[in-house]
Amino acid sequence: MRIISTERSQVLAARVAGKLGASLVEAKFNRFPDGELYFKCGKLDDETLIVSSIVNNDMFVQTLLAIDAADQSRITLVVPYLGYSRQDRRFSPGEPISARAVARALSTGIERIYVVNIHDPGVQGYFGVPAENISIAPAIGGYIGDLRLKNPLILAPDEGAAAFAADVAAIGGWDCDHLEKTRLSGEEVRIAPKTIDVTGREVVIVDDIISTGGTLATAACMLQEQGAASIHAACVHGVFTSGAYTRLRAAGVSSIVSSDTYENASSFISAASAIATAIREDAHN
Ligand code: R5P
Repeated sequence: MRIISTERSQVLAARVAGKLGASLVEAKFNRFPDGELYFKCGKLDDETLIVSSIVNNDMFVQTLLAIDAADQSRITLVVPYLGYSRQDRRFSPGEPISARAVARALSTGIERIYVVNIHDPGVQGYFGVPAENISIAPAIGGYIGDLRLKNPLILAPDEGAAAFAADVAAIGGWDCDHLEKTRLSGEEVRIAPKTIDVTGREVVIVDDIISTGGTLATAACMLQEQGAASIHAACVHGVFTSGAYTRLRAAGVSSIVSSDTYENASSFISAASAIATAIREDAHN
């Protein structure tokens, strides 16, 4: 098996190649004068693994070009971060289900797809090929363990992320809860853990995505008011749009970490082991 990546997944692709003992094929990414993308990769064999996070529109097109470039081999596609996955329903008439549109387009020419902590597992059903959702909750739990916090409390920012938070907390046997929003009046909202008091606790808020950081910044401010000793944030996909990272630090979040599904300077956690394990296990079945 040979591995190619698109431009924004090069580090993770190299790590996956290392874990699988597979060779990484050089790829060239360029742009024509009119802005269209050019892609070229080295020699492939009869089995190709493409690692490509759809972090923007260019990476979507690069993925389609990579799939076509590898059309002589059996292709497995790993999309660690699936852009557009939060647009998973038609909110008003005339809108597309963008997650479905992207999933359908990526399904042509490949045999199987892997995603990592997809925002809504229902999106898996939009792919036209077998799709597997890999969770890196254990890797995030491992990272939190290395922080050596005193009796940390793992918090999900909403009920939707509660199961993920429970998986992370299980790694260290830590307490776990999710935040609940209570409307106190027309203007006033209280955000607090459903059951556990945060007074004096070292809190780690975990989520699948940090995008604008708005969800976490609001939660961090409220938790500090409620007496939390420290607030940390750990997510799978660190999108960090519109100054989200600084916004969170300014809101009193002591440490912010994400994974290499969305490569950036805070990607201290790697999804490579989980991806390699899933691929190896499927190859043996
Ligand atoms: C929401 O359901 C997600 O799990 C994240 O909480 C959300 O996408 C984060 O977005 P932002 O960082 O823009 O608040």
